[in-house]
Amino acid sequence: MTIKSGNTDQVDQWKSTMFLYSSALKSINTKIEILNNEFIQLYNYNPIEHVTSRLKTPQSIVKKLQRKGKEVNIDNMVDYVNDIAGIRIICSFMSDIYPIADMIAKQADITVLYVKDYIKDPKANGYKSYHMVVTVPVYLTNGKIDTKIEIQIRTIAMDFWASLEHKIAYKFEGHAPENLEAELKACADMVHMLDAKMYSLNQAISEFDGEDTEE
Ligand code: GTP
Ligand code: MG
Repeated sequence: MTIKSGNTDQVDQWKSTMFLYSSALKSINTKIEILNNEFIQLYNYNPIEHVTSRLKTPQSIVKKLQRKGKEVNIDNMVDYVNDIAGIRIICSFMSDIYPIADMIAKQADITVLYVKDYIKDPKANGYKSYHMVVTVPVYLTNGKIDTKIEIQIRTIAMDFWASLEHKIAYKFEGHAPENLEAELKACADMVHMLDAKMYSLNQAISEFDGEDTEE
């Protein structure tokens, strides 16, 4: 079953489409909460700091379709806008990112459509984050609809950087003065150093804990 325009009028179709995306967000939020809770139970450790999710506004859906040179209609929005439903998972440490991504990808009813690994290959501006576009099934009265969600996984430090960069990019409509861009890039390098340092400190603490329990 797919959402394609039929006889229903556009408003109804819009409502049922957005209902689908908001249901998909609920489903993925629950999955992530369960994973995090199990982690706490098993290892007394909480890999996820917090999770935020959002539905794209109609204005930004339209903007994105126009940017992609597509006619603005519901079929195109479903086919070409992959981040109508978006979820962001913020971790404390870099080492939490790939295990969380794996745990999500391994779930039987989740299909990973593609991954963009800006941790392995940061963007030229310094942006780092792990992105996956997946589908989750939403069960409705007359069938199952696999619905797309964009998942972003990053550390607190990466998130701090990304929100400032976003603010600056927005303010200057993507054309920030060169010196600001250079400073942002320098901050991205500092973020990387901080993440690496926090990771190694945390490792050292874990080893210390290990020694403690052995005694
Ligand atoms: P759009 O950029 O959304 O058109 O999608 P895309 O197909 O280029 O995917 P990509 O994975 O590059 O970006 C998806 C999302 O990641 C964006 O909507 C932003 O939320 C975030 N993102 C990507 N690049 C940057 C960046 O340089 N800075 C910040 N702050 N966020 C970014
Ligand atoms: Mg982009």
